[in-house]
Amino acid sequence: MAEREQGITIDVAYRYFKTGKRSFIVADTPGHEEYTRNMAVGASFAELAVILVDATHGVLIQTKRHARICALMGIRSFVFAVNKMDLVHYSEQRFAKIEKDIRILMAEFDAVRVQIIPVSATEGDNITARSKRMQWYKGACLLAYLETADVIKDKGSEGFLMAVQRVCRPNHAFRGFQGQPASGGIAVGDTVRVYPSKETAAVAEILVGDKRVSSCEAGQPVTLCLDREIDVSRGCVLERESTVKTGAMLAVSVLWMDDKSLAPGRNFLMKLGTQTVPATILNIKYKVDINTGAEVFAEMIYKNEIAFCEIALGSKIVYDTFENSRELGSLILIDRITNMTSACGIVEHALLRENNLTWQDTDVTRALRETQLGQKAFTVWMTGLSGAGKSALANELEKRLFSMGRHTMLLDGDNVRLGLNKDLGFEEKDRIENIRRIAEVARLMNDAGLIVLTAFISPFCLDRRMAREIIGTEFTEVYVSTPLAECERRDVKGLYKAARAGKIAQFTGVSSVYEVPEHPEVVIDTTGRSVEECVDEIMTELKKSGLLPS
Ligand code: ADX
Repeated sequence: MAEREQGITIDVAYRYFKTGKRSFIVADTPGHEEYTRNMAVGASFAELAVILVDATHGVLIQTKRHARICALMGIRSFVFAVNKMDLVHYSEQRFAKIEKDIRILMAEFDAVRVQIIPVSATEGDNITARSKRMQWYKGACLLAYLETADVIKDKGSEGFLMAVQRVCRPNHAFRGFQGQPASGGIAVGDTVRVYPSKETAAVAEILVGDKRVSSCEAGQPVTLCLDREIDVSRGCVLERESTVKTGAMLAVSVLWMDDKSLAPGRNFLMKLGTQTVPATILNIKYKVDINTGAEVFAEMIYKNEIAFCEIALGSKIVYDTFENSRELGSLILIDRITNMTSACGIVEHALLRENNLTWQDTDVTRALRETQLGQKAFTVWMTGLSGAGKSALANELEKRLFSMGRHTMLLDGDNVRLGLNKDLGFEEKDRIENIRRIAEVARLMNDAGLIVLTAFISPFCLDRRMAREIIGTEFTEVYVSTPLAECERRDVKGLYKAARAGKIAQFTGVSSVYEVPEHPEVVIDTTGRSVEECVDEIMTELKKSGLLPS
């Protein structure tokens, strides 16, 4: 009624009701394609989905989409309420045809339970009581079915699993780990393993509220005390005989919810269970046509699309596949600048290649190399529009350092693009990869003890942040802020002219954005200033921050 009054579609409307047998929370979600994300949010908490099918229309593309979104969000119990049976004269044949179509559709999903009920919402047939007008239907009415339906549990649900939400430490004598077991039960005396450290301890005490109990089960908020001091903090997982794993490279399915599209290479924060870590989308394997289920090639993912991607995490996390654990197998991606949820998703499997790679420590370390060269290695990252003066400044700065006896290397946009990054263009995904490779190269050169200067437009905030994360703390960002008008007036390479004439696509400042750095260490506008003056300023900053001796 509220929707009709206001002529709007409400996100997700929650309704609560209770019968003698069960209590229910109904998340009423809109079904239209543009509300895919709303349906996903509603479905993410649900144990059972009731999908409405109009008997006069039968199974539509949107029915397929609804089933797919629910399945992706972990629902395994489905009721198809074939509604408006009154409009098809309660026809058994009509129902049989729709039933067959639904069975064909649902055959695509593994391990789901499907109940199909003919109803008429306006007439009340088969809603709270069996309909006398459809004697041919022998199953339960909707309410009776919901009251008794057994929801399908996670595959890995036998083992005990609890993500630690909080460590409770009111005084020296007490240290309890609080959370809500996602699956399994635990009793005093049982041994649990802590992830990621994999240390074990026995459960010494279990508290529910402030009452001591001898055991607890899934879903109960509890405080657990262990018999010995081991390292446990928020984000750790306590488990016993579960299927959890640790890792930092995963194959995931995500539902993209952001207005901004997703390009591979992008970096996010990933939240899984109670853990939050940086995550980079390595690639998009394919996207799923939400209406047909077909796997389609995709370079980018747009709002409301589902994609299968590979991601690399900033550090190892404790997780499980979604099939085994809904709690430790589902995730969200958070935009690092806006803090908005960009996507929700599920863990499909680990990336095997991760297990075959082990970091090797070498005896000649960065510190030794630095000592040998008599310097501290660091990177000066110049960013700004084409023609802002990055290359000129980097060149002058390198000459200064060189003349002081420093060992340096300059990485310059056009040069690197003529070699290492020959295969990259100027689309967003290529620019992300351009910056990632340069950051990795700078890092390697820093590890070799060299001082690295880079001159790349690097137009996106997130990529510069990624570069900073790859390179580490010895990083100085110099924003060469020369305004567009001045860069265009200089137009050393004649590119602005060509871009304005439509001859170069996605030219930064003209037809592609440049995101101004928020917290650069140095800002330099080269308009009307000499290169020497500008470099003096950078030198001052490098001395001030201790990267160069003063
Ligand atoms: S970045 O955006 O990926 O950081 P990078 O600094 O490597 O760019 O390369 C920029 C140089 O490529 C420019 O100085 C210019 O000479 C050239 N170029 C060619 N096409 C474009 C374009 N569409 N946008 C920006 N620069 C371009």
